[in-house]
Amino acid sequence: MKQKELVIGNLVAKIPLIQGGMGVGVSLSGLAGAVAREGGIGIISTAQIGYREPDYETDPVAANLRAVGTEIRKAKELAEGGIVGVNIMVATRYYEKYVEAACRAGADLIISGAGLPVELPFLVQDYDVKIAPIVSSVKSASVILKMWERKYNRVPDLVVIEGPKAGGHLGFKPEEVLSFTEEEYKKEILKIMELVQEYAKKHNKDIPVVAAGGISNAQKVREMMELGLSGVQVASRFVTTYECDASQEFKDAYLKAGKDDIGIVKSPVGMPGRAIQNQFLEDVKNGCKPITKCYQCIKGCTTKDIPYCITKALVNSVRGNVEEGLVFCGANVWEQNKMQSVREVIEDLFG
Ligand SMILES: Cc1cc2nc3c(=O)[nH]c(=O)nc-3n(C[C@H](O)[C@H](O)[C@H](O)COP(=O)(O)O)c2cc1C
Repeated sequence: MKQKELVIGNLVAKIPLIQGGMGVGVSLSGLAGAVAREGGIGIISTAQIGYREPDYETDPVAANLRAVGTEIRKAKELAEGGIVGVNIMVATRYYEKYVEAACRAGADLIISGAGLPVELPFLVQDYDVKIAPIVSSVKSASVILKMWERKYNRVPDLVVIEGPKAGGHLGFKPEEVLSFTEEEYKKEILKIMELVQEYAKKHNKDIPVVAAGGISNAQKVREMMELGLSGVQVASRFVTTYECDASQEFKDAYLKAGKDDIGIVKSPVGMPGRAIQNQFLEDVKNGCKPITKCYQCIKGCTTKDIPYCITKALVNSVRGNVEEGLVFCGANVWEQNKMQSVREVIEDLFG
């Protein structure tokens, strides 16, 4: 099958693939650089990106902001001219500082979800960087398109639609996550594409739309492309690669997971999330995990009102202490049963 390129303004990816940003520490320069080198778009997650920095325990925000720069620069070196972007969650505390750090370091693209990135056009106005909101419904797409048009007279450079089968935090009510059928969600995708097309026409600009969530094999890629999408965003498939930045224990948790091990969890971020059921989630069910320290990760989080610290849980798992951590995953990771290289995953998906 001959693939179309994914064109986002002057950025041209040979393969219509965005590797989804994965925090904490799952998609850093190693993974993003490798995907970009192979012709896709590599995305670094900025969520607690500095967790390996020596001053992280004493000044996590400074460590994170510095690491945004170092990871982007390293990924660009690995990418050999390929496209490298970042995923910055809107819910991030000091969101605007992370956006600035990414722009200064020369990120090609900023993708923002976990909230609607209302101020993003203003924050990037002095930089040559492409911007993309993540939406999960026509309703959220309509809100952000309308707001950007009214406040800034601009449209996104790209729209990412994240469906209910995605990993990490989900932009749905908990009861919606499992009730959407694939056919129903395809209809939602078509409606979002139609709406984006209206704005694209009005502003005389191409706005590519990509879909994410549970796109785990070539058949699913084909189905998505047949809807008329410009590309796909894939995350979980890249966790079980040699290049992925997570520990081998984190990758092994994916390799071992069966269909029944994947569940929906409540997160302190206030959205449902998908993760592998493990001892940590059992312990949370049986009572709160005492929080001894705040890492300044999420806006509005008050340590006294939450069942556990999400930063601690995600850092534990990415470091390899998976039974005391939260292992986010997409709905189809039970299909993954071998380690591969990034190139092999891309060949599996696109032939
Ligand atoms: C381990 C993990 C961490 C993730 N972290 C983030 C994140 O920090 N920000 C974000 O917007 N999406 C995050 N996601 C969502 C992915 O970027 C992606 O859109 C989604 O997982 C796609 O579905 P798939 O994993 O089935 O391919 C995460 C997903 C996983 C599996």
